[in-house]
Formats: sequence, structure tokens, C-alpha cells
Amino acid sequence: MAKDVIIALDFDTKEKVFSFLDLFKDKKPFVKIGMELFYAEGAEMVRELKRRGHKIFLDLKLHDIPNTVKKTMHVLSGLDVDMTNLHAGGTKKMMEFALEGLIREDGTRPILIAVTQLTSTDQEALENDLLIHEPIDRVVMHYAKNAKDAGLDGVVCSPLEAEKVHSTCGENFITVTPGVRFADGDKGDQKRVMTPAEARKIGSDYIVVGRPITAAEDPVAAYERCVKEFLG
Ligand code: C5P
Repeated sequence: MAKDVIIALDFDTKEKVFSFLDLFKDKKPFVKIGMELFYAEGAEMVRELKRRGHKIFLDLKLHDIPNTVKKTMHVLSGLDVDMTNLHAGGTKKMMEFALEGLIREDGTRPILIAVTQLTSTDQEALENDLLIHEPIDRVVMHYAKNAKDAGLDGVVCSPLEAEKVHSTCGENFITVTPGVRFADGDKGDQKRVMTPAEARKIGSDYIVVGRPITAAEDPVAAYERCVKEFLG
């Protein structure tokens, strides 16, 4: 299965994105466009990065009624993104509809992954705000299984959950893991982190890396170090 390092383009203008990516010259890293950049610059940002030869993970975390999600996924798939996502909390039916919407006329479609529970949600919020009285890791695995049953390709999860997701949903079920830091780096606001080498050992399929690359003194060297540690 394809494994790769995905750079989180957490910038708010296209100028910042392009001056960052120009550092990479002919290299075309797999990049993630999140809500901030998408809402700031719109679909033209996606088209331009595609024209420049990047693979794109469009991280918009859809969550709405099944029909609306299906129609929106159809639009996103038309942007020729390589990976996109939604909230598993929208139910199996929403996920099934999303998959249908993603399929292009030629039968291809982007990889579709689910967010189980956001890593910012803890047990207390689960119980008090969402009235879910199960242990959070059980909820995460249950949502991952729902995603698999709905036909999705994988989930976004903490690197610490990747092994369990694979044992619950199978080795081919993709794990996309943020929360990656170099052993000698700053953790920032991420609490539960792993190095790229550790993420490789526990079987992450894709790692999503933001600040350790975007805020590095030499982003290209940081990206290459990440690729070397993760892909070997
Ligand atoms: O800068 P950093 O490496 O922490 O960036 C990680 C990226 O992954 C950010 O775009 C963040 O929004 C995203 N992410 C995350 N934790 C999750 C899901 C997504 O850090 N649970």
C-alpha cells in the first residue's frame, strides 16, 4: 500500500502557500488543504496545486444530511483531489452516500477517510457534552468499524491508535496520523506525539506533518528528514 508524508499547508493566503512550496523546486510533496486555507482561497487553490503537480488531501471534515454530503462529495471529486474526509459521527448512511457521490464517471474516486472522534474531545466532553458513556477508545474503534462497514478506506487517528485500528479493521484499512514530531523538536500544542520512525514502526500509512516542516528553518531539509525516517 502507498505510504507517504503529507504536509499540512496551514496557511491563510495563497501567497504564503506558494512562497513555501517554491522552496521545494521540482519536488512535489503530497499536501493537505484544511478549512482555513480552503475558506480563504477557495477551490481555485486546489486546482492550482493540482496544476503544479501535487497530490492533495482535502481536509474539510464534512458532516451533514446524507444527500447534501453526497452532492458535496461529487463536487470535491470533480476537483480531482486524491483524498478527502468526513465525520464518522454523521452515521453509516451518510458515509455510504458520501462514497457514492465521490465516484467519477470513469469509476475512479479519491480515497475517503473518516474522523472518528476529534483528538480534542476527551472522556469528560464525551460524557457531559455528547452524552456518550462508553470509554473513548471503544467509541473510536466503533466509529472506525462503522467507516469500514460503510466501505470507506480508512480513518484519521492518533498514531497511538493506529495499531488497534489495524487489528480491528484489517491491515489494508488506511490510518492517517497527525501528531508527528521529531525526537529533538518542539511539541507545540500536540500532546500525544510520535516521531516519524515510530509512526512507521506502528504501521501508520500516511503521516500528516505541519509545523515541524512549515516552521523549520530549512523546510525542505525537514521534509526530507521526515520522509527518510518514515519511509526508510
Ligand atoms: O503543525 P502540526 O504538525 O501539529 O499539524 C498537524 C495537522 O494535522 C494540522 O493541520 C491539524 O489540524 C491536523 N490534525 C491534528 N490532529 C487531529 C486531526 C488533524 O493535528 N486529530
